[in-house]
Amino acid sequence: MTESKSGSGLRIAMISLHGLIRAHDAELGRDADTGGQVKYVLELAAELGRHPEVSQVELLTRQICDDRVGPDYARLEEPIADNAKIVRIPFGPKRYLRKEALWPYMEAFIDQTLSYFRRTGLPHLIHGHYADAGYGGAQLARLLHLPFVFTGHSLGRVKKQRLLDLDSDAKNLEETYRFTTRAEAEEMAIETASLIVTSTSQEVEQQYEVYEAYMPERMEVIPPGVDLTEFYPPTEGDPLPPIADALTPFLKDSTKPMILTLARPDDRKNLEALVRVYGKSAELQRLANLVLLLGTRDDLRELAPGQRNVLLNVLTLIDVFNLYGKVAYPKSHVSTDVPALYRLATKSRGVFINPALTEPFGLTLLEAGACGLPLVATNDGGPCDIIANCHNGLLVDPLDDEAIEKALLRVLTEPDQWTKWSENGITGTRQHYTWKRHADRYLRDVMEIVAAAAEPDLAEGKKRRRMPGFDRLIITDLDNTLTGDDAALAEFADLLRSQGDNVGFGIATGRRLDDARKLIHQLGLPLPDLLSTSVGTELHYGEKLTPDRSWQKQIAFQWKPDEVRKVLGDVAGLFPQSDKEQSQFKVSYKIDPKIAPTLGKIKRILREAGLRVKAVLSLEIFLDIIPVRGGDELSIRHLLYKWGFSPEQVLVAGDSGNDEGMLRGRTLGVVVGNYSPELEKLRKLPRIYFAKGTHARGIIEGINYYNFLDRITIPNDRIE
Ligand code: GLC
Ligand code: MG
Repeated sequence: MTESKSGSGLRIAMISLHGLIRAHDAELGRDADTGGQVKYVLELAAELGRHPEVSQVELLTRQICDDRVGPDYARLEEPIADNAKIVRIPFGPKRYLRKEALWPYMEAFIDQTLSYFRRTGLPHLIHGHYADAGYGGAQLARLLHLPFVFTGHSLGRVKKQRLLDLDSDAKNLEETYRFTTRAEAEEMAIETASLIVTSTSQEVEQQYEVYEAYMPERMEVIPPGVDLTEFYPPTEGDPLPPIADALTPFLKDSTKPMILTLARPDDRKNLEALVRVYGKSAELQRLANLVLLLGTRDDLRELAPGQRNVLLNVLTLIDVFNLYGKVAYPKSHVSTDVPALYRLATKSRGVFINPALTEPFGLTLLEAGACGLPLVATNDGGPCDIIANCHNGLLVDPLDDEAIEKALLRVLTEPDQWTKWSENGITGTRQHYTWKRHADRYLRDVMEIVAAAAEPDLAEGKKRRRMPGFDRLIITDLDNTLTGDDAALAEFADLLRSQGDNVGFGIATGRRLDDARKLIHQLGLPLPDLLSTSVGTELHYGEKLTPDRSWQKQIAFQWKPDEVRKVLGDVAGLFPQSDKEQSQFKVSYKIDPKIAPTLGKIKRILREAGLRVKAVLSLEIFLDIIPVRGGDELSIRHLLYKWGFSPEQVLVAGDSGNDEGMLRGRTLGVVVGNYSPELEKLRKLPRIYFAKGTHARGIIEGINYYNFLDRITIPNDRIE
């Protein structure tokens, strides 16, 4: 780490959670989750680290301890480049998990990351990549009052639609891909982000558009860079690379120009059309060889059915058109073969073709172009931008065989034009698509956002003040959790008192502060050490009810209660609660579930009105609208962070929707037996105990379950 930069300068926390991320020899393509995104975040982190404005980039990912993937992914820290490093956060099971299996552990990620930040200080900015880190990063940003940047990489709703178009069965899709959870996470990320980085303008128009929180003014098209240290043009006298040997067995005359494509065997890539076009064109066959680099396979019979089908179709077409000696399709390659093959194709005065049905970005086109290979590409998203910027080839309608043939023939038969396209690609990619350029534009936007953001109040979180005395804390809801069984309540109160100052006591309730205090008094409970009231929008401590100032300062962010009332005023089945239930940061309704829209629909109405709020449903009939930075999941985390409590020392108990947020955290959760249906979904999460006992009896049961008053144990730390 260079001395000069430390201290001042921007500290950026990138988050990219799934797949296998390591700084050296990235295992791209090893599985479906380790692909373009992994490369993107590593290169971005390295480049940002080089910029003088940046003091440190941390790329947070998951720690994986699993023999099947090797020891690199278990290292807690790994340098990437100057001022850039990977930080691996342990959360969930130790073994490798595919991305769809990470969802239940996201709250654990958030809490683990909080303690990491508490140890090392706060970044200036959080940048989440993909839905999972989008959700986790957005939660952290809300909680820590930090600006948030989001890059979706691909979006769930779009992918789902595509799969549905291929007419799959919707229910199975949900099970495999968890689209509902993913889309909700994406909405939250989009809603929280001050900046959304996309790679193409098509992504903005056609992909983010279908999201309710879509705000075009917060989106920027900043294309990723090409790694120019790998992708450069050939020079005279280069020795033949190893990949050349892999082609010779296929080709009768390997000196002919190459028509090269490189793609995963995937329906959308439209590879059969390419083979068909070549197969039907005597002219193309006379002029050039066709080279297909279609991923890596061992035994093609063992591939996923979709991939296998594409490959079988390609092989069949080669046979049907009798293309032996003219088409090469090597079984496998390593990542360094790719630039070598582009250079070989350039030397042959060949052409790169991408005939995909849709192509949101198309990094291969840029890489081929950077090596000096002219392009023929599908007339869609990414290629349109690339060819408009670089003028290094032709766009074609991928459904028009004749147009594809014509374009390929043109590139192969007009040598002057070929040279021009080749040179344009080399200079154009260097001008428009370098990571340096990406980072310059990114930092320009980000610096502005950071400057505009208020200094986070928790920045001084390192002081490690402690709440007085106690070393563990019980936080419980009031209505129907503490109340409802007087005998059990009295027992609970006695239990608490018997612990003296060792155990802190907190209340988290939907009630207002005045109302909550009255009830606490009536019930004869000890005075709480902390009170989170009005559905986690107000936070007070101790006997004197000292307000939490850092909380107070930030809660109002984006809060527009009058607009909330206006937007929800016309919605059927919603009835405002009485004035004494309303408070500064909470607008509450009673709803008639028979008439009112679902909670999902209500959230959509709010988002579409441009309101950034949280909607919380309790006991199926109480609806609270609160600020995005409110809610017990944040208020409780806020105080743990601020006072330096680890979640393992905190037991939380509740019965209904407005307790859900705090129950989801890494704290030890207890759901009392009389819980309402909104909480059923928590069963899938770790650290949630569903008590049989109801009301305060359930809390006592939970205290025993975790052995909370003695040596704490967490039997449900893991779910499988
Ligand atoms: C309490 C509050 C009410 C709120 C409900 C659910 O009953 O008094 O306003 O809607 O909790 O959070
Ligand atoms: Mg309750």
